Amino acid sequence: MKYGYFDDPNREYVITRPDTPLPWINYLGCQAYFGIISNTAGGYSFYRDARLRRLTRYRYNNAPFDFGGRYIYLRDDASGEFWSPSWQPTRRNLQNYVCRHGMGYTVISSEYGGIEASTRYLVPLDENLEIWQLTVTNRRQRAADLSVFSSIEFCLWDAQDDATNFQRNFSIGEVEIENGVIYHKTEYRERRDHYSFFACSEKITGFDTQRDSFLGPYRGWDNPLAVEQGRSGNSVAHGWAPIGSHQVKLSLQPAESRQVVFVLGYHENSRERKFDPPNSQVLNKKGAKFALARYLVPANADAAFEKLRSHWNELLGICQVETPDVHTNRMVNIWNAYQCMATFNMSRSASFYESGIGRGLGFRDSNQDLLGFVHMVPGRARERILDLAATQLPSGGAYHQYQPLTKRGNNDVGSGFNDDPHWLIVGVAAYLKETGDWSILDETVPYDNQAGTETPLHEHLQRSFRYTLDHLGPHGLPLIGRADWNDCLNLNCFSDSPGQSFQTTTNKDGKVAESVFIAALFVLAGRELAEIAEQRGLQAEASSYLSEVKKMETTISRHGWDGEWFLRAFDDFGRKIGSKENAEGRIFIETQGFCTLAGIGLDDGSARAALDSTRKMLATQHGIILQQPAYSKYYLELGEISSYPPGYKENAGIFCHNNPWVMIGETRVGNGDAAYDYYTRINPSAREQISEVHRCEPYVYAQMIAGRDAPTHGEA
Ligand code: BGC
Repeated sequence: MKYGYFDDPNREYVITRPDTPLPWINYLGCQAYFGIISNTAGGYSFYRDARLRRLTRYRYNNAPFDFGGRYIYLRDDASGEFWSPSWQPTRRNLQNYVCRHGMGYTVISSEYGGIEASTRYLVPLDENLEIWQLTVTNRRQRAADLSVFSSIEFCLWDAQDDATNFQRNFSIGEVEIENGVIYHKTEYRERRDHYSFFACSEKITGFDTQRDSFLGPYRGWDNPLAVEQGRSGNSVAHGWAPIGSHQVKLSLQPAESRQVVFVLGYHENSRERKFDPPNSQVLNKKGAKFALARYLVPANADAAFEKLRSHWNELLGICQVETPDVHTNRMVNIWNAYQCMATFNMSRSASFYESGIGRGLGFRDSNQDLLGFVHMVPGRARERILDLAATQLPSGGAYHQYQPLTKRGNNDVGSGFNDDPHWLIVGVAAYLKETGDWSILDETVPYDNQAGTETPLHEHLQRSFRYTLDHLGPHGLPLIGRADWNDCLNLNCFSDSPGQSFQTTTNKDGKVAESVFIAALFVLAGRELAEIAEQRGLQAEASSYLSEVKKMETTISRHGWDGEWFLRAFDDFGRKIGSKENAEGRIFIETQGFCTLAGIGLDDGSARAALDSTRKMLATQHGIILQQPAYSKYYLELGEISSYPPGYKENAGIFCHNNPWVMIGETRVGNGDAAYDYYTRINPSAREQISEVHRCEPYVYAQMIAGRDAPTHGEA
């Protein structure tokens, strides 16, 4: 069953009914100002950092799931009837509902009682603001008197604090209203130099900035009092919950159309120019006024849209393929590239499944992301590499995450994920291959952002490589540390207290548990590094990398091979994981994929055998499962992986990230057909027909599809 269709020429996915199985979302913004928006206008906005600089509030994991957003209400002032043209939050029975998610914009259109409304949401390039461009058309035979209400709920900047620290937050909300523009300035009088603003192109008849006044006592967003009564309260927020809402009256003759533009934006002032006049406590609004003078004009909003379209046409035009398969063409040419850009910008830190407050950007993830977008934005890839390298630790190790706003390593999840350093090598190698910009290796970059520790980037890579050699275990395989690619294989954790983080709790000294996966990654990264050294004329350095790589390959075949497939790891007792000796978790995808991808076992047939075992034991119609059999109970010595019910997440779920490793492996043994077959199984477009099973958007790769042990096998 489908809930819409692909419009390939326009690079849009068109959703034709609002009650999708899950909110189907899109990303707005691609530089510094971002938003996520669902097919019913749910979502939120932020500047650079979804946790530290959140503009609008969102209520996660709500019922209905998707709640809080960029909501517009229309009200028939003759009958008093009102509705939301995006369906939520009023959920009236709309006609002709259509949501078009395009490249960096979303258009939601519908009709109700003969009134057609269409809103285009976008973030213009090079601006820290978003535009909601509403067009209302009267399709009735008679004139219509309407009210339009906008609404957003301001977040008090730090989204984590906003959701928890109520004893303070209910007393600090502040706004200013000038000429119909609502300025949100909580904490501006003290240490913040930024504010947000919300404005409307038309003359307003009223506004609200206090949530209670707009909604009325005991009411929700589905039934705001101001909308029901057709009259804004002109409320000025002091404390409690500042919101932004405008009311505009529209009288439309039959067939008449009118546009109303709303702009929500963010601005920073310098400390010296915070206030206007300087000695007052009044916000200096010049920056906002300048932006508003431009973008509240519909023609300029149109121009911003056209510019955004050409931007994406240019980006996507860089790599286009033509194959006999529509799903391949669509994903490679449009949606996969688009998703890579979204991950570049957010790296999984903000979505409907990552709240934006839970984590910063992953070190490993961000380096991996480079491979997907470096050809589109090489300049920004360069900047990202240098930012990431600057968080690297002097030992060559890495913080597992960093905050994009501060660009500092974030110790929330700590460090010591022993695969992390190698991804920097892989990312830089991808950059060099794409750009030929060897100068990046000479850029001086600090460690842990400490001034005075700078070395050329090349040395960062050397230290990454060295890190593994300094952390080898009893079999000569790399020690796993807190985890490797599989964040949930926590072999040094041994946690028996509820609530402890599997990623930061460590009860073992980490000198025994080893990862065959990191060994394979070491082989891949080592070869890349050798090639880099060779290109720079550093022959001796190149040979030393290659000899370490060779040694590791031998170690893998000696200690990492289980007879029919590659082992996954050794635990803290030195026991095998991912072996036929195990009752559960006998075979894992990561090492079958990564070893073969890295070319290990191509000569002696073990690569072929590992891939055959993968097909036999892990492949399903919905993709390749992470491991089998699933863990049926909690194993203290394995950590989070065994905390999930069988079939979900790392406990035998299907990860869209590691499936392609097997596909690449298959191509390395010359079996392209098998690679393509696997590819089609997880290709979201190819799964569109089963949207009621897959449930997640048909235009994005999900993190995970439920494995065959789960009752919901196939659900993404
Ligand atoms: C993380 C990745 C990790 C994967 C498997 C994802 O959620 O972002 O870093 O490799 O899970 O554990």
